[in-house]
Amino acid sequence: MKKQTLLLTALIVLLTNITPVQAQKFEGLADTPAMGWNSWNKFACNIDENIIKGIADQMVETGLRDAGYIYLNLDDCWHGERDSLGFIQADPVKFPSGIKALADYVHARGLKLGIYSDAGRKTCGGRPGSFGHEYQDALQYARWGIDYLKYDWCESEDINPVGAYNLMRDALRAAGRPIYFSMCEWGTSKPWKWAAETGHSWRTTGDIYNCFDCIDQHPGFAAYGVLQILDMQEGLRKYAGPGHWNDPDMLEVGNGQTVGEDRAHFTLWCMLAAPLILGNDLRNMSQETKDIILNKEAIAIDQDKLGVQGLKLKAEDGLEFWFKPLAGGDWAFCILNRTTEPKTYTIDWQKFNFTDEEVSKLSTDFDKKVYTVRNLWTKDTKKSVEGNTKKIKQVTIPGHDVLLYRLSEQVKKNKR
Ligand code: GLA
Repeated sequence: MKKQTLLLTALIVLLTNITPVQAQKFEGLADTPAMGWNSWNKFACNIDENIIKGIADQMVETGLRDAGYIYLNLDDCWHGERDSLGFIQADPVKFPSGIKALADYVHARGLKLGIYSDAGRKTCGGRPGSFGHEYQDALQYARWGIDYLKYDWCESEDINPVGAYNLMRDALRAAGRPIYFSMCEWGTSKPWKWAAETGHSWRTTGDIYNCFDCIDQHPGFAAYGVLQILDMQEGLRKYAGPGHWNDPDMLEVGNGQTVGEDRAHFTLWCMLAAPLILGNDLRNMSQETKDIILNKEAIAIDQDKLGVQGLKLKAEDGLEFWFKPLAGGDWAFCILNRTTEPKTYTIDWQKFNFTDEEVSKLSTDFDKKVYTVRNLWTKDTKKSVEGNTKKIKQVTIPGHDVLLYRLSEQVKKNKR
């Protein structure tokens, strides 16, 4: 009897140990959308360690780090060859000091370092992909002190996306260093439907194109302007939340669009609770660009703790009316002018009475509540309070631009 019990116990122990346990992604890395900088939109393959170190210095000096932009992410083309054991190495000409030294430099400035790879055999820039080397690459990144991995989808024709992205998630978990997992499969397999347990964010579309309203069509693929990407977010908000975000791609602010377009682009990404990953040359920025990307009240809309992606409530005559519920009963309200001409509009708050049935279940209740209306793009903060929601309000929105307001309930404030 005793012998049988012992045998049974041994069998149970054995079975428990060989039952595959699904690894989990690292929790707590994306309670709010990620913020940082990435090399691709401005530099493409032309990166080296001096540029990246210069960007790190600027992230500190300009106040970007303190505003929340903590990830400094290398995109494609940092790679050299694999060594004789198969471990990936940095390009010895562009990164002669190696990635570990770069990570040390970045960490010493209170920032985190991101890296880029691809689920296929090659990256989009033709560098070695992680296919067949997933655990080895994850181990190498962990050894180097990497904090963020963007994982692309080129050369992936015969690969199953769920398997490929879960494999890298498991490899990162096994390597043991908490690494944010940014999935970049362009929305092809509708990752919002399956990836909440896989990654911290997933790209929803093909690449952004540095243009407000146009499509850059190539044979077989396209890149999309700001408005085109915005339109492709329709229906996706219910899939996003703390720890797992829709990613409408990196920002083009400061890369040549007009100030109004840049302001609209940034505002809309905040309304979408998108990762705010800058893509401009931080070593050479205009004051207008700084004012946009360092606007703490706009950033606070993106980073709001409630973690609910905003919604387009209605569209009318080239204007769109967006709302985002915020923690503590506030709302962000944005009017987007998609046309190139200025438009005057009379805001009758009662017309915006609605309940966000789909996600937060919160209501604006303009018939019962009075909110202070604060304009988040007014430079003079003394003038930023523009009345309250008791009064009808006439506004003008320039072409390709936005107005952004934070609505805070007055009654509640008085009670405190
Ligand atoms: C793909 C990605 C881009 C960028 C490039 C790099 O196109 O979607 O964001 O990483 O590859 O080659």
